[in-house]
Amino acid sequence: MVRRMEIKADTEVYPLYLGSGLLARVGAILREEGLTGKILVVTNPTVGALYLDMAVEALEGAGFDVQTVTIPDGEAYKRLDQLTKVYDAAAVGCLERDSAILALGGGVIGDLAGFAAATYLRGVRLVQVPTSLLAQVDSSIGGKVAVNHREGKNLIGSFYQPSVVLSDLEVLTTLNEREFKTGLAEIIKAGLIGDCTLDAFLRQHSAAVRKRDPEALVEIIARACAFKAQVVAEDVRERGRRAILNYGHTIGHALEAETGYTVYRHGEAVAIGMAAAAAISVALGLATPDLSQTTLEILQLYELPTTIAGIPAERLLARMAWDKKVKDGHPRLVLSPKVGEVVVKEDVPSDVILPVLRRMGAA
Ligand SMILES: NC(=O)c1ccc[n+]([C@@H]2O[C@H](COP(=O)([O-])OP(=O)(O)OC[C@H]3O[C@@H](n4cnc5c(N)ncnc54)[C@H](O)[C@@H]3O)[C@@H](O)[C@H]2O)c1
Repeated sequence: MVRRMEIKADTEVYPLYLGSGLLARVGAILREEGLTGKILVVTNPTVGALYLDMAVEALEGAGFDVQTVTIPDGEAYKRLDQLTKVYDAAAVGCLERDSAILALGGGVIGDLAGFAAATYLRGVRLVQVPTSLLAQVDSSIGGKVAVNHREGKNLIGSFYQPSVVLSDLEVLTTLNEREFKTGLAEIIKAGLIGDCTLDAFLRQHSAAVRKRDPEALVEIIARACAFKAQVVAEDVRERGRRAILNYGHTIGHALEAETGYTVYRHGEAVAIGMAAAAAISVALGLATPDLSQTTLEILQLYELPTTIAGIPAERLLARMAWDKKVKDGHPRLVLSPKVGEVVVKEDVPSDVILPVLRRMGAA
């Protein structure tokens, strides 16, 4: 059961392979896709201990000249000094223009290795092998690559499309429950804002999804990727439509930042953000109250959080204003009139937002 999807970006098209047991075949697949020669695998100790040997064996078995570099695990290491390690390994390993950097890990490794691929020798080929659910449905496709700066997340980055994405469902078996659910939040988002069939599937098959049944996973991952790919294809450099993917993210980012990135996983914050976005849509009269109800139901079905524990609403609003400021000074929220649709609203009044946040438990 292997799916091969084509992802469009600008004039390029790249393949996304999705299925069980793909990591053991990564070398053969990359050769089929025309890659040869040197490949630098970037991973972290957690993922590396589980999957690096398998990846290296599969690549060497297919004739690749493989080097590896390991970055410490965690968002805190998605930064310039760790990127230097990748450049050092690329230089020592004599990577050439047609060589590849392969990101083996979650979104942190994917973003960092992706930025290295975009910049080393002004661009070598990038292979994304996402191992977290979030990376499989979100960060590995769409071409955003970045590292963090102490002043903010993802401040140093670029748009750079991979040559191949390979998502192996088997690696998801070792992902802990919290990380699995953070990925599910992004899949739920795709259902709520764009793909009603995905939304219905998630509601009907929650037991199979929660058990990580491969057939259920392949269905929801493929649908979420197809939705993201279609939105990205319309707006590769995020000048307009791509912003809809930020549904739940403005409030989510505010929560993450306000709690120092230590309380919520990204998907948990986005889940709360989606509950808030639905409630704001209702409060503005854009949506009927069932939107809030339906949103809460699906988030609770997957045991994702939907309340804000005691964080001052005013502080969240101030954080949201900062998030908006970087998007040209206009207060902007992605809202939803009904499941499967979104609208971007400028100037949502704070006297609508604050009571919603307080009803959700904010101080
Ligand atoms: N580029 C984009 O478009 C985009 C989109 C969304 C998120 N992101 C970025 O992605 C990052 C978050 O990604 P994430 O949630 O994958 O976090 P992560 O990369 O930190 O991975 C989460 C944890 O799971 C572990 N892990 C990963 N795969 C595993 C596996 N198969 N088995 C066991 N453990 C495994 C990791 O080592 C880590 O400890 C953030 O830096 C965010 O900015 C980028």
